[in-house]
Amino acid sequence: MTVTSNVSLQPFNTFGIQASCRYFTEINSINDLQELQKEPAFMQPLKLILGGGSNLLLTKDVDGIVIKNNLKGISIVSQTEDYVLVKCAAGEVWHNFVMWTIGQNLGGLENLSLIPGCTGASPMQNIGAYGVEIKDTFHELEAIDMKTGELVRFDNNACKFGYRESVFKRDYKDRYFIASVTFKLSKKPVYHIEYGAIKQQLDAMGITELSLRAISDAVIHIRRSKLPDPAVIGNAGSFFKNPEVSAEKYNSLKESFPNLVAYPLENGSYKLAAGWLIEQSGLKGYRAGDAGVHTLQALVLVNYGKASGKDIYNLSTHVLQTVSQKFGVELEREVNII
Ligand code: FAD
Ligand code: EPU
Repeated sequence: MTVTSNVSLQPFNTFGIQASCRYFTEINSINDLQELQKEPAFMQPLKLILGGGSNLLLTKDVDGIVIKNNLKGISIVSQTEDYVLVKCAAGEVWHNFVMWTIGQNLGGLENLSLIPGCTGASPMQNIGAYGVEIKDTFHELEAIDMKTGELVRFDNNACKFGYRESVFKRDYKDRYFIASVTFKLSKKPVYHIEYGAIKQQLDAMGITELSLRAISDAVIHIRRSKLPDPAVIGNAGSFFKNPEVSAEKYNSLKESFPNLVAYPLENGSYKLAAGWLIEQSGLKGYRAGDAGVHTLQALVLVNYGKASGKDIYNLSTHVLQTVSQKFGVELEREVNII
């Protein structure tokens, strides 16, 4: 384990934002982390744990230490006739892990194919797509307390998962280094194809018999057609959450905007499609210098080249204000702002 100084973070964030950090290190084993805790650089008050950098906006240099999680390994912990507990080290690339589960014919994560980033960040915002969230298969995680060095386990309840939320994003922000995540995957998969365009995509692909692989392929196809590839154009996926509004607010909006895109929730309120709100505010494809609202998916902000983190942040404020003025709906940023 080595600690280097003044490292550029541009290759480590999918927005491709130029920012640097005072210290940088990669953790390849729990032992590395324990060693790091004895280093003077670890005394920096600011510690940023980094996975794939696909849900971050760097608005300034990191005046502290960046700890890149590089822990690897996938193992079967136990199994029954129906389920297998699979433990995945935090530094494994999420999509590679999903592909591994499909290769083993274990169901539960196939709808989450092609989400960028590492497994260790997946509980941070309870990643979700196409009708599935990790909380549906999450069993437990192991984390190191950055204050005490102690190894702590969190079960599903302790993580307080919600829509793009967990205890790690709020109460325990920067407190725990997630080292591994264990999922309860099914030997007898239940397929989820009700959401969005999955069914149509399966039909278009001529799939008559469902399989984990077919669903994964359909999801990958839809995602590639809609979302910008960070290797081509910098972005961090959806920049905002889809906002939840009361039935009363929904009804009044629906009266003024009959084409409003919304989904009823079990608690009686409604989730609005933020991409629709942004598009209807006239901002789809809007550009301020190199910071832009994506031309195909208005929920995604992009860096056309030389945008700074502040440029993207200012654009996000403009989007928030414009949507608020037109619809009286307050959007919330989903991306972690540093
Ligand atoms: P990073 O960006 O490196 O970190 C994110 C946060 O987690 C930071 O606060 C960081 O400090 C913290 N963190 C990271 N690793 C650890 C760890 N081991 N321990 C403790 N804290 C840690 N998300 C979805 O939910 N659904 C989607 O469909 C989706 N689509 C996307 C599409 C694109 C094109 C892109 C670019 C992003 C998308 N995202 C999506 C967002 C992103 O991929 C996920 O949030 C992902 O889990 C982030 O992983 P990461 O390793 O890149 O995290
Ligand atoms: N829409 C528009 N204009 C746009 C974009 C969307 O009108 O520019 C409307 C369309 O009616 C569309 C609807 O919004 O049918 C929903 O769009 P989409 O299916 O693309 O999904 P989303 O709600 O924009 C969410 C997640 C994505 C996830 C997809 C698929 C959030 C914040 N985003 O996007 O997650 O991949 O659903 O499940 O919940 C991410 O978190 O980074 C992310 C990409």
